[in-house]
Amino acid sequence: MSNLVWQKPGVRTDECIMRFLAGTDVLLDREFFLCDIEASMAHVQGLAHIGVIDDHEAAALQSELEVLADDFRAGRFVLDERYEDGHSAIEARLTERLGDAGRRVHTGRSRNDQVLVATRLWIKRRLAELGRYCMDTAHICLHRAQDEALPMPGYTHLQRAVVSSTSMWFSGFTEGFIDNAWRARQTYDWLDANPLGTAAGYGVNLPLDRAHSTTTLGFARMQVSPVYAQLSRGKFELAALETLATALLDGRRLAWDLSLFTTAEFDFIELPDEYTTGSSIMPNKRNPDAIELLRASYAPVAAARVEIEQLLSLPSGYQRDLQFSKGPLVHGFRQGLGALHLLPDLLTRMRWKPERMRAAIEPSMYATDVAIEQAVAGVPFREAYQQAALAAAEAGQGRTPEASLAERVSPGSSGQPMLEALAARLDEVARIWRASSGGES
Ligand code: ARG
Repeated sequence: MSNLVWQKPGVRTDECIMRFLAGTDVLLDREFFLCDIEASMAHVQGLAHIGVIDDHEAAALQSELEVLADDFRAGRFVLDERYEDGHSAIEARLTERLGDAGRRVHTGRSRNDQVLVATRLWIKRRLAELGRYCMDTAHICLHRAQDEALPMPGYTHLQRAVVSSTSMWFSGFTEGFIDNAWRARQTYDWLDANPLGTAAGYGVNLPLDRAHSTTTLGFARMQVSPVYAQLSRGKFELAALETLATALLDGRRLAWDLSLFTTAEFDFIELPDEYTTGSSIMPNKRNPDAIELLRASYAPVAAARVEIEQLLSLPSGYQRDLQFSKGPLVHGFRQGLGALHLLPDLLTRMRWKPERMRAAIEPSMYATDVAIEQAVAGVPFREAYQQAALAAAEAGQGRTPEASLAERVSPGSSGQPMLEALAARLDEVARIWRASSGGES
């Protein structure tokens, strides 16, 4: 490991203890490195505004930071165990290239606010990505709900219940993913606060230009209290993972449906070939592995939430425990977004099997229609229910799935699906995402 930024003359360090302290932290910092560089640029500009460094030094630092970002992107600079963490790597590089100007860069900041601002920028981008995937999924679901209303069984308790349609199935996931996109936006707004300039958690004796870094970095507001900046570490990560988990909750139920629908017992859908794999021993098999991993992706995200929650039993102020919030954050988002990213394509290309679905509609599935018609004709509902129960097997006489669906006029149902209301809400959330910097990647 190269020079430690906190090394004091005459104090020894132990290699084994150092390894324990660093863990895999520097490797995780690869994820946040570009955000760290971006925030470092804003800090440099701020230092120049208050005269701590001169314009010449600021320009040199700025351009070295740009070169470092390019080198990192191109693989010419590798962030590895030579450094304690990404923060020290930036300082080491600037010092190596610029001497004293590099040694000035850390004036008025601490790694505590540096890591906060880098992770916060990263979280905002991941939430914007989450919002995009949710909106894309909702779009596809909406189109398919508008395009096809093929009759299929509607289940409760996994038992055939009433006639439903592919349009109703898709409309359900449309609304779900619109809600998920909104939630991503709400969480984004909730945590859109700039912690840079809070230093170690108690401010510094410099009039730092926090308003400048807030606007330059695209934050909606300044996180005012340095103590709260530290209190919010982990808390905001947790909120972001919860938001991701909400979307995956719908993804998991959707995947469950698809995995059932591909079985020979249901046989309601055909999946695109790429989403299935073969068996190593059974030549006859095509397995829906991608769907299963989509379903399973909830687990690592839920686990990441728990891991961070467990860390947060802490007094106020920076505690090194907080370093452990980065791993679950990165792994949770990698797995969760990877899964959600596939949904729009999968849902676009999956095909229904109309005859199979129609064949699964039994006459008894019209019994609810019959009971309600009787009730409308004046028979008390409980009595109509009893009669329909006794004659359930004949309930389908003279009825078709299409008529049952057309007559289901309760708002939101097949007879009055209100898809325009869903389209309007989807447009609204898309407009809000577009209107702010949340769209950046
Ligand atoms: N790797 C550290 C973290 O993630 C950076 C901050 C170190 N701060 C300190 N006071 N040791 O928390």
